[in-house]
Amino acid sequence: MQMTSADLLICGGKVVTPQSVVEANVAIKDGTIIAVGSDGAMPQARETLDASGLYVLPGAIDVHVHFRDPGYPHKEDFASGTAAAAFGGVTTVFDMPNTIPPAGTAEALAAKHRIAAEKAHVDFGLYGLLGEDTIAHVPALVAAGVIGFKLYMGNTFGRIPCPSTGAMLEAFEVVAPTGKRISLHAETNSIMERREARLRGAGRLDPLAHLASRPAVVAVEAVSRAALLAEWTGARIHILHISSAEELRPLREAKARGVDITGETCPHYIMLSSEDYARFAGTIRVNPPVREKRNQEPLWQALADGTIDLIATDHAPHSPEEKTRNDIWTVDCGFPGVETQMPLMLTEANAGRFGICDYVRWSAANPARIFGLYPRKGVVAPGSDADITVVDLARELTIEDAALQSRSKITPWNGRRVKGLPIHTLVRGRFVMRNRALLPHTRGWGRSVHAIQKMPPARVRNADGTMQAIVRLREHAA
Ligand code: NCD
Ligand code: ZN
Repeated sequence: MQMTSADLLICGGKVVTPQSVVEANVAIKDGTIIAVGSDGAMPQARETLDASGLYVLPGAIDVHVHFRDPGYPHKEDFASGTAAAAFGGVTTVFDMPNTIPPAGTAEALAAKHRIAAEKAHVDFGLYGLLGEDTIAHVPALVAAGVIGFKLYMGNTFGRIPCPSTGAMLEAFEVVAPTGKRISLHAETNSIMERREARLRGAGRLDPLAHLASRPAVVAVEAVSRAALLAEWTGARIHILHISSAEELRPLREAKARGVDITGETCPHYIMLSSEDYARFAGTIRVNPPVREKRNQEPLWQALADGTIDLIATDHAPHSPEEKTRNDIWTVDCGFPGVETQMPLMLTEANAGRFGICDYVRWSAANPARIFGLYPRKGVVAPGSDADITVVDLARELTIEDAALQSRSKITPWNGRRVKGLPIHTLVRGRFVMRNRALLPHTRGWGRSVHAIQKMPPARVRNADGTMQAIVRLREHAA
């Protein structure tokens, strides 16, 4: 049988899907996987990569990163952020809109598309900002190519104003028919602002005061309210950075009612706890806060049973100076994570907490499905983009902030021992990292994935009562 020849053969590795681990070769041509199988089933190839003893995973899809471009080049930009992604085995990132200016108009989004296309080493999607003042921009933002929308229910870095519940309902009504998913920073502003003011008044400046200002009820109230509005309107939502055991109840209940709601957690909520505040001080300050240790096990269980769908990082880089101020209220929230997620999670897989198949479900297959990119992305299979990370589960490393690709060289992972590292990363068939070194000419190789996104048809509810519908009725009557 005559077969077309491939550009690259990845030979002898163990190919991981959510269902199985199979010893198989992978043939790649023109950026696409054309065959997965045994030696005899492989075409000729120009180049061969020996992956014996290694695991061949779909590249991770991190649906929650802040690359700060444009606006905060001292913290990160699209080049440094996507270099960090490549190092972390992450082949697609979705960037958040809290930049300067925020990605809340078609013009701002277009400018960001130009920046990302020029600098990105890996593929990307851009969120549009859904706020009180951007509802009217939704159609133009969709036309300009968003991967989804981001709505801040609570204040966090960038001080994006939080919409009222009334504006939120209208925002959901407007996005629902577009079929796009709305990712939510689900913390209720009025609760935490009140508590923070009281704590400040009482002279609390210590790191744990941050946690005290944002108890889990802040998130539980927000998740519950968002789920009700999603159910009413039929809007699809995604709960970002789930940090507490208590949020799982409204999430489970909404899923059981058939609401199109998904959720993510991040390594810091399942691997760090309030016991780490003394050691890391401001470095650990993040929204929502890292919580009491008792939350960890329920979050792991929620990943295992599918209540939480995926792992993201909330990669939120800041400078060391911005992270080490003595007054906790002046410390910028967040820390980088796009580069350390995979080694941290593979370490837990190595320790037997879950299987490698579970990992690719959380890191690649589920994010691709939830955002309409599957099976083009998120799986190593014929016809899919050759977005691949080749990992060595036996390779160990001590994470050192100074060695990170990110411009932000300060994390609570510093000094942590990991076992299981991405060795090579390919984006659409091209090496962006090889033998743990960034390839020099891959800047600008990354592409926006909005063009290949296929969300299922929208399922709008209560359309006759939306703000648009009732105002139109009034116009007809006049
Ligand atoms: C994020 C940031 O720095 O942009 N910070 C954070 O603490 N998580 C914003 C966010 O996701 O809330
Ligand atoms: Zn957030």
